[in-house]
Amino acid sequence: MSRIEQPAAARFPEFFYRQTKSGRSLASILHCERIPLADLAERFGTPLYVYSASAIRDRVGAFELAFHAVPHTLCYSVKANSNLGILRLLARLNCGFDVVSGGELERVLQVSRAAARKTVFSGVGKSRPEMEAALAANILLFNVESESELSALAECAARLKKTARIALRVNPDVSAETHPYISTGLREHKFGVPISEAIRLYAQAARRSRLSIAGVSVHIGSQILDVKPFGQTMERVAELVRELRSNHAIKYVDAGGGLGIDYDDQTSDFAERLAAYAQALSAPLSGLDVHLLLEPGRSIVGPAGILLTRVLYKKTNRGKTFLIADAAMNDLLRPALYGAYHQIIPVEATAGNSRETVDVVGPVCETGDFLARDRELPTMQEGGLLAVLDAGAYGMSLASNYNTRPRPAEVLIDGRTAKLVRRRESIADLLRLERKTK
Ligand code: LLP
Repeated sequence: MSRIEQPAAARFPEFFYRQTKSGRSLASILHCERIPLADLAERFGTPLYVYSASAIRDRVGAFELAFHAVPHTLCYSVKANSNLGILRLLARLNCGFDVVSGGELERVLQVSRAAARKTVFSGVGKSRPEMEAALAANILLFNVESESELSALAECAARLKKTARIALRVNPDVSAETHPYISTGLREHKFGVPISEAIRLYAQAARRSRLSIAGVSVHIGSQILDVKPFGQTMERVAELVRELRSNHAIKYVDAGGGLGIDYDDQTSDFAERLAAYAQALSAPLSGLDVHLLLEPGRSIVGPAGILLTRVLYKKTNRGKTFLIADAAMNDLLRPALYGAYHQIIPVEATAGNSRETVDVVGPVCETGDFLARDRELPTMQEGGLLAVLDAGAYGMSLASNYNTRPRPAEVLIDGRTAKLVRRRESIADLLRLERKTK
């Protein structure tokens, strides 16, 4: 009978240790749902992104529960993880989508044309072809971010003889404590229009026959753990909705995404945090009879994915030990770009192991190529497997081919089945678009 060990060291219940036969002895092996990660490494190779379908379902369910009292639609933010297998799973769970490019829109259309009707289009730099594709797909809402974009969208809609439902993305000038690269709700940021100019811009939009004013949208940043800034933002949005209502039909409030996850502490309760988040968003809107749109990305898929990597070499330079893994900054950029912390755990946990402090680095030729620095880990041998946790969001979607490295394969686990939802790139894939001209 297998038993669960050290759930606190993994991401229980979808990623956990279980006693499994390894050769002739028993070993405690990290599983994703019913499958040992060591088996996945054998079958699909490393580095490998592994996602749990149950974790995604659970997290969507938790959102639905937390927001059950308010009319709402979950518009999953495609940029967090845009794999078609994951998008299909989310479309089947009745999610809509938040897209920021024609490419993301095409992904949504490929998994469900119906889901396009529950899709919002955000971003400061939508091109005309992108707007036209979104109009043709009859998306739910354009989140418009500037006066010029209003004109461009009106022209595109006229050309296609369509009407564009719009919200203005307002910048509430609220500070959210997060990494400066992913904070968006302050005056100095490029996003949205100042809330003080919103009334004038809505009036201008109302004069365009091809634009139909439908809502107000906002997004203050990402990886926000304190729910207070969300509440403050909604206070300002609610005030604006009240003012606008005398002249415009405001049906939707798009609250954006941004709810953070615990990269370093797995003890906090997601349902509790969601309840506080739902309360912070919905209390200021009470009595306004609006339909709330939510654009979560990270909080849905982040903890549902890990990056599986093998230790290629172990070396010591002047007393400092490096584990050189086969995953690098091109596969998971967050540590290099934001100094982000991701917990790393061994796939095989051996009891009473010694521990050592190491840097986990990749093969890329940059000092910034690290997955962890000065991290105490159980002593690892060359050939050992490591799992980088909470890599489901902004992992593969930020991956690149830097150093001409093929990007990892991706597998989606559901119970005992493992589906390859993206095969590993080959070097031929990488070179296919290039020409050796003389
Ligand atoms: N809606 C809008 C308009 C956004 O800009 C974003 C994220 C989201 C929704 C989804 O936010 P989430 O729920 O995932 O926090 N690469 C960074 C995160 C960049 C977030 C960009 N915008 C990272 O790895 O931390």
